[in-house]
Amino acid sequence: MYERGRVALCGKGKNPVGHWMKTITETQGGTKMSKLIGILTSGGDTPGLNAAIRGVGKTLLHTGDYKLIGFNDGFRGLMENRFIELDDSCLSGILTRGGTILGSSRDKPHKMPVGGKIMDMTAVIAENYYKNHLSGLVCLGGGGTQKNAYRLAKMGLNILTLPKTIDNDVVETDVSFGYDTAMMIATEAVDRLHSTAHSHHRIIILETMGHKVGWLALGAGIAGGADVILFPEIHYDEEIVSEAILRRSREGKRFSIVVVAEGAISKNMAKEWEKSKKEEDLNAMLKTRTLDLATKLEELTQKETRVTILGYLQRGGTPTAYDRVLSTALGHHCAQEIIKGEWGNMMAVQKNKIITVPLSKVAGPVKYIPKNHYLVESARGMGVCLGD
Ligand code: F6P
Repeated sequence: MYERGRVALCGKGKNPVGHWMKTITETQGGTKMSKLIGILTSGGDTPGLNAAIRGVGKTLLHTGDYKLIGFNDGFRGLMENRFIELDDSCLSGILTRGGTILGSSRDKPHKMPVGGKIMDMTAVIAENYYKNHLSGLVCLGGGGTQKNAYRLAKMGLNILTLPKTIDNDVVETDVSFGYDTAMMIATEAVDRLHSTAHSHHRIIILETMGHKVGWLALGAGIAGGADVILFPEIHYDEEIVSEAILRRSREGKRFSIVVVAEGAISKNMAKEWEKSKKEEDLNAMLKTRTLDLATKLEELTQKETRVTILGYLQRGGTPTAYDRVLSTALGHHCAQEIIKGEWGNMMAVQKNKIITVPLSKVAGPVKYIPKNHYLVESARGMGVCLGD
């Protein structure tokens, strides 16, 4: 009845699926059958993913009514039917581990690279879901994953999702896990850049990740006491930024820290892009944007300017205590929804409570920083230059 997938080993020298199949067979003739839940992690890896897998898994296994399998490398693993059984031993010792024990990919069910072509593999994914007799599938991911998961839910699959992203741009949740850890790492970078900028009387620009939103730059900029914070939601003017730096000089402050989100664009870039409207043109401008900004600020202020691009460091390593708690609580809540048989929702945090939100509300929109957000107002109110 249960067909084997292409199995990867979880514990050393152990075949988890063989062991799991035996358990199922033993219970078939009895009164109780275990329900099987699948889980996958999709999109950029994020600290807290393992803690969330553990939260879902430990809660389900604790009931004695469920078995859990984890598909490798996001939707690709589900399409290729590659999975591992997540038994108690697999879920132990992963709370503090960064990355994802399942592996991840950015592959989308409806646009999957297969044999050198981009193919719609949604039907194969649904077929594997039914072939494995899954009672439900949990997808951990950011905005893109929510959209892909919603597509599967609309086809009738039992789907639940959890919001993970260092960018914090998933709508309908006050926060996503991974954001706090990335913000902490970027903040530490701002702290460390202060002493070197101060010693050499330089401008230092720190580029953070964040995709098309500014939560990471704004959070780390405020936490680290940056003098200038630039992010996509507010288009900056280099002259205004340089004037803010020169003003600091006149006040006797001989260095400046500029935090710039990878997606931040200047007013001039916005005008250029307005003409073409092509995503690739914007991406080409963004490729050199931080170095261009450094050149421009050096020219306008006549101050030595250096650049640090933090990159993937922001996604690496162990999650903060906050992210571990958040991932665990979201994972636990998700397991409770599975037990209740409620599907088609994302777990979310709103006003300090864990709630569920229909996937139809989450799939598509992006959570940008509102212009009147309290963090924007706090930064402005304290004299931080936001470039406008
Ligand atoms: O979404 C997380 C993120 O790290 C973004 O901040 C960044 O723009 C992107 O992923 C990088 O993507 P990739 O891992 O595919 O290079």
